[in-house]
Amino acid sequence: MADKKFLLAGSILSADLLKLGDDVEDALKAGSDIIHFDVMDYHFVPNLTFGPMFLKQLRKRFPDAVFDVHLMTDPANDQVVDSYIDAGASWISFHPEACPHAERLLAHIQERGCKAGLALNPSTPPQMLSYLWERLDFVLVMTVNPGFGGQKLIPACVTKVSDIRRMAVRETPRRILIEVDGGVSAQNIREIADAGARVFVVGSALFGAKDRAAAVKALRAGLEG
Ligand code: DX5
Ligand code: ZN
Repeated sequence: MADKKFLLAGSILSADLLKLGDDVEDALKAGSDIIHFDVMDYHFVPNLTFGPMFLKQLRKRFPDAVFDVHLMTDPANDQVVDSYIDAGASWISFHPEACPHAERLLAHIQERGCKAGLALNPSTPPQMLSYLWERLDFVLVMTVNPGFGGQKLIPACVTKVSDIRRMAVRETPRRILIEVDGGVSAQNIREIADAGARVFVVGSALFGAKDRAAAVKALRAGLEG
């Protein structure tokens, strides 16, 4: 996975929840590099999703998978983060509005052996990343307002991807991955990649398709195009 230029992260929010394990297996077989795991708390976002017990079961069935936990919770703190790390998270991102001690929480995630990221809502300025570059492994740029799958990408957020890319190159020699979340499709993935994103969350574009292998193929072809 590490040598791939672009990574696809299938988001289980759009999976068939009554056969979650089989859908994840299908997505991994189809070529999803990462499994994106959205945690919603009815408070930070107007929806409610998966607790750590779901992740624990998935980790048991897929010991080698990369699980990318996107925390849309308020608060985001050590206790919340630890419950998902104990359950088998590989990457963890949280929103800075929900955490007054972002530097400390990023450090904590890294010290526990996971990749640490900050997630930015469409209206959250990229300046929130300032002074945190040495603690960031990735930045998750929301290209829709978080809470639901199947929304349309907000074009201004693609401009934000290029702004963040420029800032990262200027501020640190470390390679920071930019992950884009929301409304990604085979039609717009190339433009987002050109802006500097390397990781693409795909919910409806992957799990919404009957043939997941064909969906991955179309997304990869979009990247080539
Ligand atoms: C939205 C979630 C996304 C969602 C994306 O709040 O963070 O991960 O699953 O779904 P699509 O790809 O359908 O926009
Ligand atoms: Zn997400």
